Amino acid sequence: MKIALASDHAGLHLKENIAAYLKESGVAFYDYGAYSDDSVDYPDFASTVAGAVQSGEYAFGILICGTGIGMSIAANKYPGIRAALCSETFSARCAREHNNANILTMGSRVIGAGLARDIVEAFLHSGFEGGRHENRIIKISRLEQK
Ligand code: RB5
Repeated sequence: MKIALASDHAGLHLKENIAAYLKESGVAFYDYGAYSDDSVDYPDFASTVAGAVQSGEYAFGILICGTGIGMSIAANKYPGIRAALCSETFSARCAREHNNANILTMGSRVIGAGLARDIVEAFLHSGFEGGRHENRIIKISRLEQK
């Protein structure tokens, strides 16, 4: 399992914390930036990670901005990407089990690093349940044709 990780300037410090957590946990990842506090545009980073997950190069993506909202809106423009904004662990687990989410987004101005680590753990350790959820995912894919 390989993770594509990125943030904008607002998410930089939380991203660094999550990168350290992934390293400690032995999870392979690539950090696509941002690498400084200089102001940048979150759609650029969402685009890089969404494209990398869409292509199959990475199993999952993690995107962090101030609220997590901009990253989720931008990433969800990519067909096949199901980006879930999570601020607690229940949603992170359901995002995988029910929605087969392949990108987790979080807001650095919304949650602290401890909770963010728990959210990442819940997301990465939960699997899609399939069954009744499968057809719903197929219906979401059909919406991408509209
Ligand atoms: C940057 O100031 C902020 O707008 C961005 O990080 C994010 O919260 C957008 O959704």
